[in-house]
Amino acid sequence: MTHIVWRNEYSINISRIDDQHQNLARLVNELNESVELGAEMKVLRKQLSELIVTTRIHFDTEEDLMRSHGYPDYSNHKVEHDALISYLEDTESRLSVGVVDTFLTNFNVSCDCFIIHMNERDKKLGAFLNRRDIY
Ligand SMILES: [Fe+2]
Ligand SMILES: [Fe+2]
Repeated sequence: MTHIVWRNEYSINISRIDDQHQNLARLVNELNESVELGAEMKVLRKQLSELIVTTRIHFDTEEDLMRSHGYPDYSNHKVEHDALISYLEDTESRLSVGVVDTFLTNFNVSCDCFIIHMNERDKKLGAFLNRRDIY
């Protein structure tokens, strides 16, 4: 079972972002659990849609922080955000035509992407903001 287990090492030391990351991990886990339990399509669609909305809000938070503090790696970071959103939207399109197999198969990838992005890109952003006394 693919399940994101929150670890302290995932913290990027920016409380608002850490809270959002933990909330996203919870939504990813709930969605994955529904897929595994064979939940109805309307349940999957609702959960995926909530994940997408919450992800957008989260990315906006990070991108606002990056822009307002002149973060030098903004473009590379944003490219990954855009790719993750596209991936979620593709998943939503496939789901809307009933393709759950692909969705399930790709779900492992999405969990990995989430953790890798958080652990690499977001951690660098956290360190940058911490040097500016933002926690
Ligand atoms: Fe993030
Ligand atoms: Fe990010």
